[in-house]
Amino acid sequence: MTYKNKNLDFKNLHLETQMVRGGTIRSDFGETSEAIFMNSGFAYNSAEVAESRFNGEAPGYVYSRYLNPTLKMLEDKLALLEGAEASCVMASGMAAVFAAIMCQLKSGDHFIASKVLFGSCFHIATKILPNYGIEVSLVDGTSEDEWSRAFKKNTKVVFIETPANPNLQIIDIKFVAELCKRNDAQLIVDNIFASPYCQKPFELGADIVVYSTTKHMDGQGRSLGGCVLGSEKFIKETLLPFHRHTGPALSPFNAWIILKSLETFSLRMERHCENAKKIAEFLEPHKKIKRVLYPTLKSHPQFEVAQKQMNGGGTMLAFEIDGSKKDTFSFMNRLQLIDISNNLGDAKSLITHPATTTHSNISREEQEKIGITESMCRLSVGLEHVDDLINDLKKSLYA
Ligand SMILES: Cc1ncc(COP(=O)(O)O)c(C=O)c1O
Repeated sequence: MTYKNKNLDFKNLHLETQMVRGGTIRSDFGETSEAIFMNSGFAYNSAEVAESRFNGEAPGYVYSRYLNPTLKMLEDKLALLEGAEASCVMASGMAAVFAAIMCQLKSGDHFIASKVLFGSCFHIATKILPNYGIEVSLVDGTSEDEWSRAFKKNTKVVFIETPANPNLQIIDIKFVAELCKRNDAQLIVDNIFASPYCQKPFELGADIVVYSTTKHMDGQGRSLGGCVLGSEKFIKETLLPFHRHTGPALSPFNAWIILKSLETFSLRMERHCENAKKIAEFLEPHKKIKRVLYPTLKSHPQFEVAQKQMNGGGTMLAFEIDGSKKDTFSFMNRLQLIDISNNLGDAKSLITHPATTTHSNISREEQEKIGITESMCRLSVGLEHVDDLINDLKKSLYA
């Protein structure tokens, strides 16, 4: 009863093939679909085997907080998806963001981030890091001048979201990556909004890429998860000691959900992006809409950068209602098909009021400075028929 795994080099195959077959390890039973190894520990045939696994002389698993066959399959598939040397999966996107930042920093180091960040990323930058004696600078991510002046001798890590949550501000990854190289700092790109379908930060010079697999990779709103991708050296020597001993491990069950979802990733993303583009184009000229922010619209303030570094506009858009917070809430409450939710990257279209939910930990004054207004909605475009989505928006805008 032994199954011999095939030995194909998936790196040279197409994305669709990589996502259906890459990373799969079959057990001796030869199961076609990936198995869920829902175990915390492993048993050894002898104390000597246990010793050799722990000291790294023999291959094999030791504990699911470190790694497990289901997690390993997901890590290998995600590394193929991103074109990364190595990856490490975690319990949530925030676990991945925090570990990627924190594993590299110590008291006295300097950290730079762009100002437009998801509320929890903003909290890490402005509340948690300073508590550990880490100096923090926040810059306008679109200002080359601010970036150039922000680096110091002790700058170790730079963190950007592009397109950023919630207003889809776009940062020139290549430009920031070159500055990081010159200043010996590591660039982390949170690529959640774009997804690897629309943007490849490593090809633009990023050192580390982070994801919430909760979003497009699961794609059906069922599981929390996260992932950090980078060089083999960074993952093994810097991230893993932090991850293994602080414990943000992903459940094998959640890993399995994400593994299965990735099989349809490119099909889903193609339709998500098509729908999002059509909705952005419908909303832009609408008289009840003040402005729409979507990367492939010529009116996007960083349209040129988006053209340079993105392949398509993605699944997310932001728009402002021409009216007050009350008008915006009334519009959202009238929607029949699109759900009000703070999640994103789901098959179901979801609408968010960032100022009062995902970004409510940022003061109104700070929100205004970074362009989060009370009439701004963020829309995660799903997989419903686009005409039904447009009709839902149309009726709610006109009522
Ligand atoms: C840009 C960005 N980074 C990180 C996260 C955190 O992901 P998770 O909810 O899986 O922890 C989110 C969640 O919305 C996000 O939008």
